[in-house]
Amino acid sequence: MNTKITSLQKQLHNQNPRKIIKAALEQFDNIAIAFSGAEDVVLIDLASRIRKDIQVFSLDTGRLHPETYRFIEKVRNHYQIEIELLTPDRNVLDDFVKAKGLFSFYQDGHQECCGIRKVEPLARKLVTVDAWITGQRKDQSLDTRQNLSEVEIDTSFSKEDHTLIKFNPLLNWNSAQVWDHIEAYQVPYNELHQHGYISIGCAPCTRPVLPNQHERAGRWWWESDNKKECGLHAGNLDKTK
Ligand code: ADX
Ligand code: SF4
Repeated sequence: MNTKITSLQKQLHNQNPRKIIKAALEQFDNIAIAFSGAEDVVLIDLASRIRKDIQVFSLDTGRLHPETYRFIEKVRNHYQIEIELLTPDRNVLDDFVKAKGLFSFYQDGHQECCGIRKVEPLARKLVTVDAWITGQRKDQSLDTRQNLSEVEIDTSFSKEDHTLIKFNPLLNWNSAQVWDHIEAYQVPYNELHQHGYISIGCAPCTRPVLPNQHERAGRWWWESDNKKECGLHAGNLDKTK
């Protein structure tokens, strides 16, 4: 790991989310927050208290719930920020839908659709920034998110001539801590959370969970593999091998 990042990681180890976000925004001017339209709104809340000109993007897969689209607009207005919506490559998407329809993921898995609707648009965005901030937490997955670091080199999206840095400020918070913050600071939240949804992704691939079921049980539930990642955080899978 590059020495600057190694020493930043030492400095940020076990620090609270605000300190991690503050350091991220101080170290990198060209840095963007990846906002999924769910609990990770906390990142925007914390960052906007530190710097007004934050850069935020959402991957608009075209398959988000209406509630999530409404929520993205609510957040845009509440914080008076721009939220860049990244859409899939039109030609690739047209060919994919023509060949396989709108629900092929129920037959042959979510990777291909996620690749087109999420990963490619994300990759396109990430070459334009030096660092990004995500809302990943360790408690979201015992299988894939236990080895998260406060800051790391993003090995999935770095290029030969472009080292990309990734910050995960919420890594050590659990869901209850996130919700305490939302309640304490009256942060707007996605109305789907009132209907049993915890982890929220695209509409056809997300469902509410039962009491005490793990939150990611509601994501791609028809697939048996526990290692549920869609490619945005593919580097997590390398760390579990
Ligand atoms: S996913 O890989 O399974 O879809 P998850 O829903 O757990 O990811 O979200 C983890 C983090 O990935 C979010 O806090 C956010 O930073 C980023 N992320 C996930 N989905 C999106 C999205 N649609 N747009 C932007 N960022 C996203
Ligand atoms: Fe496609 Fe589902 Fe992935 Fe969304 S979560 S991109 S609908 S497979």
